[in-house]
Amino acid sequence: MVDFNAMLAEAVDQELDNLLPAGRELEHRLFDAMRYAVLGGGKRLRPFLVIAGGEIFDMEMAQCLRTAAAVELVHAYSLVHDDLPCMDDDDLRRGRPTVHVKFDEATAVLVGDALLTLAFEILADRRTSADPEVRTNLVAGLAKAAGGHGMVGGQVLDLWAENNPLDEAGTVRMQRLKTGEMIAFAGEAGGILARARPQQRQALRMFAHDLGLAFQITDDLLDAEGSAVEVGKATGKDAAAGKATIVAKLGIEAARDRATLLSRQAAAHLDRFGDKANPLRALCEFVITRSN
Ligand code: IPE
Ligand code: IPE
Ligand code: MG
Ligand code: MG
Ligand code: MG
Repeated sequence: MVDFNAMLAEAVDQELDNLLPAGRELEHRLFDAMRYAVLGGGKRLRPFLVIAGGEIFDMEMAQCLRTAAAVELVHAYSLVHDDLPCMDDDDLRRGRPTVHVKFDEATAVLVGDALLTLAFEILADRRTSADPEVRTNLVAGLAKAAGGHGMVGGQVLDLWAENNPLDEAGTVRMQRLKTGEMIAFAGEAGGILARARPQQRQALRMFAHDLGLAFQITDDLLDAEGSAVEVGKATGKDAAAGKATIVAKLGIEAARDRATLLSRQAAAHLDRFGDKANPLRALCEFVITRSN
């Protein structure tokens, strides 16, 4: 199992620390809450995907780190809003009180807004890429992954499905939108930065797409089987809330088999990249064996 390269995680944390606002103006409560939401925890899977993808094309680390940070900021925002009382109503995240518990609900909503907009400010900056077309492609790619045809659309379906059962295909589609699209973008982002050929970008995207589906099934398995202490968030909540999950549709064993199959399928998309894709290959094992 891959232990996320500790040096890389540290570099990502440092980059996020540098990019997050830290002033002591009157509005510093917002900045404190943004930093609380982003720093100090999290597996940093999406940043790792961006950086490992960029390394295939020998991209400059500084550019990869900025892009990785932008993706992680959007992810962190999605978690802050996902935990709100009007959504999943969770008190524990990354082993700590959620943002609306630690601060308050209005601050949590505004933290999400500010993290989302900061992500695009970072991508639009020349330091992310000197090439305006690359910057535009990154902005458009992240916007698509995060918006109504991506994460936000999936979140709506996730909530809707609590009272309106989805069939298996509908559940897969919902999970692809809420989790898969952001992970697919993270996988492709290094290729966008590098102006890689369309086929190379597509292979990275398909790899990360399958990885993302396996990742969400494992998230559902951890909710069904894990303990809050280990997972860092409340467990046993999906069944109680009547969430549409692959575990609910197929049962534990078949869900685990599905995740394994998707993880193998993900790895197959990396064949064309040879040894340069080894860090990404290691992730395929990680996403289905992780314990948090
Ligand atoms: C949790 O994502 C939400 C899902 C999409 C399943 P992660 O499991 O990547 O959360 P962190 O960033 O490590 O806390
Ligand atoms: C959330 O899925 C996906 C997001 C877009 C945040 P979950 O609701 O299952 O994520 P957790 O279990 O709260 O981390
Ligand atoms: Mg949710
Ligand atoms: Mg949730
Ligand atoms: Mg979950």
